[in-house]
Amino acid sequence: MLGKKGRILSGHRPTGLLHIGHYEGTLRNWAALQDEYDCFFEIADWHALTTGYDDTADMPERIEQIAIDWLASGLDPERSTLFVQSHVPEHAELCLLLGMVTPVSWLERCPTYKDQIANLSDGAGPGYGLLGYPVLQAADIIMYKANVVPVGEDQLPHLELTREIVRRFNNFFGGIFPEPDALLAEFAAVPGIDGRKMSKSYDNTINLSDTLDEVARKMKSMFTDPEKLRMGDPGHPERCPVFVYQRMYNDPARLDEIKMQCEAGELGCVQCKLEATERLIEAVGPVMERRAELAGNLDLVHRVLREGAEKAGAVAADTMAEVRGAMSLDSTR
Ligand code: TRP
Repeated sequence: MLGKKGRILSGHRPTGLLHIGHYEGTLRNWAALQDEYDCFFEIADWHALTTGYDDTADMPERIEQIAIDWLASGLDPERSTLFVQSHVPEHAELCLLLGMVTPVSWLERCPTYKDQIANLSDGAGPGYGLLGYPVLQAADIIMYKANVVPVGEDQLPHLELTREIVRRFNNFFGGIFPEPDALLAEFAAVPGIDGRKMSKSYDNTINLSDTLDEVARKMKSMFTDPEKLRMGDPGHPERCPVFVYQRMYNDPARLDEIKMQCEAGELGCVQCKLEATERLIEAVGPVMERRAELAGNLDLVHRVLREGAEKAGAVAADTMAEVRGAMSLDSTR
């Protein structure tokens, strides 16, 4: 931690293979923060159970796969701590204790909770764990006394709740925990191959686990400007998902040319897609290749997570000793 600006914790639920939307929106940003901050990156398997509690058989595989995606994307176990939430059971104890000081009304008001219960398919209604999602997330963050939490905008309500829970806890038991700040990454949403936001639920993703052939095939089938039907038709780059890829991966001078050539009807979509694919593969291909190597070396992946759990567990043990002391729960230990 010496010489670093502070401590970061962030996490992700192991819900499936990660795609280039995750890479551009989250992982590249996390990887870049590793030199400046002491970073903890958590695979939040318990959080994944708040909605997917009825089918957990593939959890070990989902955890492996997200760990591989992370390592391939440049999260570096030499500089950062990569771990699985359930490997550090102190998270459950801190969550339980924070639950005592957290009013239910705060949790019921949380917009992510309201969204989730509107879409519930289980007739039994929302689970206790789902309501407590932000309490568990607060425990994740403050266990490491993180001051900075790099997250997407959708997580801001959870961050605000963490801050409120911290204030209430500190008020009762002394100023043990810092109030963490969110760090929002600036990036434009990555469109999927159908032009909508890239998302597993739309089945429009380019995954980090795809082969280069699959990437090329998907890019070839990408939607373009719907008004540009024939080669010579003038195009509208600002309405075209392929142009977003050109903007992400091509250099600015070439981008201006593409824009002009497309608008003049001189550049065909097939050609444009081929160029975007080349640039994409130059930028992300190395991540995909590293990923393929790591997928064949699960021993290494498991070792990283084991060592990460040891490092995280040591910090968690210290924090919990402090918390038990502050709450007078350590008298007969
Ligand atoms: N709720 C986060 C998400 O869905 C995952 C998460 C769990 C998290 N614990 C965290 C994020 C702690 C930041 C900090 O993406």
